[in-house]
Amino acid sequence: MTAEGAQLSGPDFTQGIETSRLADGTMLLGYANGEAVLLARRGADVFAIGAICTYYNGPLAEGLLVDDTVRCPWHHACFSLRTGEALRAPALNPVACWKVEQAGGKIFVREKAKRAAPEQRPPTGSAPRSIVIVGGGAAGNAAAETLRREGYAGSITMLSADDAAPYDRPNLSKDYLAGKAPEDWIPLRPADFYKKKEIGVRLDARVASIDPPGRAVALSDGSRVAFDALLLATGARVVRLDTTGADLPHVHYLRSLDDSNALITAAENAQHVVVIGASFIGLETAAALRERGLKVHVVGPQARPLERVLGPALGDMIKAIHEQHGVVFHFNTTATAIDGAAVTLKSGERIAADLVVAGIGVRPETGLAERAGLEVDNGVLVDACLETSARGIFAAGDIARWPDPHTGKRIRVEHWVVAERQGQTAARNMLGRREAFDAVPFFWSQHYDVQVNYVGHAEDWDRIAVEGSAAERNCAVSYFQAERKAAVATVGRDIDSLQAELEMEFSHASA
Ligand SMILES: Cc1cc2nc3c(=O)[nH]c(=O)nc-3n(C[C@H](O)[C@H](O)[C@H](O)COP(=O)(O)OP(=O)(O)OC[C@H]3O[C@@H](n4cnc5c(N)ncnc54)[C@H](O)[C@@H]3O)c2cc1C
Ligand code: FES
Repeated sequence: MTAEGAQLSGPDFTQGIETSRLADGTMLLGYANGEAVLLARRGADVFAIGAICTYYNGPLAEGLLVDDTVRCPWHHACFSLRTGEALRAPALNPVACWKVEQAGGKIFVREKAKRAAPEQRPPTGSAPRSIVIVGGGAAGNAAAETLRREGYAGSITMLSADDAAPYDRPNLSKDYLAGKAPEDWIPLRPADFYKKKEIGVRLDARVASIDPPGRAVALSDGSRVAFDALLLATGARVVRLDTTGADLPHVHYLRSLDDSNALITAAENAQHVVVIGASFIGLETAAALRERGLKVHVVGPQARPLERVLGPALGDMIKAIHEQHGVVFHFNTTATAIDGAAVTLKSGERIAADLVVAGIGVRPETGLAERAGLEVDNGVLVDACLETSARGIFAAGDIARWPDPHTGKRIRVEHWVVAERQGQTAARNMLGRREAFDAVPFFWSQHYDVQVNYVGHAEDWDRIAVEGSAAERNCAVSYFQAERKAAVATVGRDIDSLQAELEMEFSHASA
């Protein structure tokens, strides 16, 4: 996505602004030659970079300055003020940089600076001659890009069971499903990107087995691909319903672009949808299908949506938002049967449905790793550098269970940004960098126009503190474990979310 069409506001920096308007450690939004520019001061240094995030056009001026970087308020990407480089996912592209001049008590933004090539550090030790990445999702794509960005010149092969090149999976249950996002938002990269970067992408290429001592993977078509280093980034697969009628053609799941497209086609001819599972995916799907005008019922075994992850206050808020948009909930119950006309609940109640979507969770795709003899326990076990129990084989994304320094435990999460950042770290470690993965987990979820941002990781908690009002959709909810703030969820308070992330970066379980 680009900044084209973005409304310009603030001063015209080419005309200069008084130096006193930009205090140390602050930012100012303005423009130069028709483009939105963010001006930021750090001591004597003044920087001018593009003001619009390259992921989904987030307003960087409403983000957080940290040293010589700025973090985006929407999904926590991070850009260098010095080079414009995207230092942290989910942004993959840099923002522009402008030359700045200080003269006569004023700051002027001059012409755009030429982009410096990203810093390339030679691989440490002997670099692998060939790297194979299994999986063309968030982690796999980020790893492939990072290898080239780091100057790796060897062979990169990405083997993906998907039939589409890497795409923006989170959007599949949001604007894309609601019919509000054009198709060209979905691919992460233009069609010729991988060719230009000499990244060999093989689609519809399912890896059937790994031979760690033989340094090769075997595909389901019988062919073999050799590797010196391997990244496993196979993501997760949906849990399927075992209810009577679960195999009927109007029962859908949502993981891939194909799934989303099939659901869109089905929604065009449907009127009554029952979503089984009040999960993030189930609820986002409910919201998108309401936006398409379908009548939506959601069935879940719990008392309120997402309570196990977000607690009662945000659970009630999410329930209220959906109800205000016309969703009908059926809680404390399950679906016992599906037929061509309805979904039957445990109570015997029948809810009319010509479309059924199940969002009852996912399981990590660990089969390949297990069969190859790698250590697996609710995910592929990796060390701090994301290397598995087999030397030279790394894992990242939804399948990886890593030692998280913030909780002091091994954790596995299913978050887009974590998968991308792990892909980036694993790529550097395949080049011998030995960089520990220590990012604070972050995810977001979107329900109509309300976004929940979550930093940290709390599978359970002793105490929850709510600041502000969940009912008014303006709050920060902190989850404490033995008085340690383990996670913070925010609504309408993006800056609090960024600040909580920053604080947690310095908090380690041992501290
Ligand atoms: C609809 C939807 C909405 C979401 N929304 C959000 C959100 O709002 N915020 C958030 O933080 N997270 C969200 N997520 C979760 C997020 O998308 C995942 O955490 C992330 O995609 C994980 O990245 P990954 O690279 O580990 O796996 P994936 O992106 O799932 O990629 C796995 C890849 O591996 C391939 N693969 C699997 N097995 C094989 C094999 N044997 N051989 C070859 N290839 C194989 C698959 O085809 C795929 O290309 C959402 C997920 C879905 C499905
Ligand atoms: S728009 Fe900036 S990180 Fe999402």
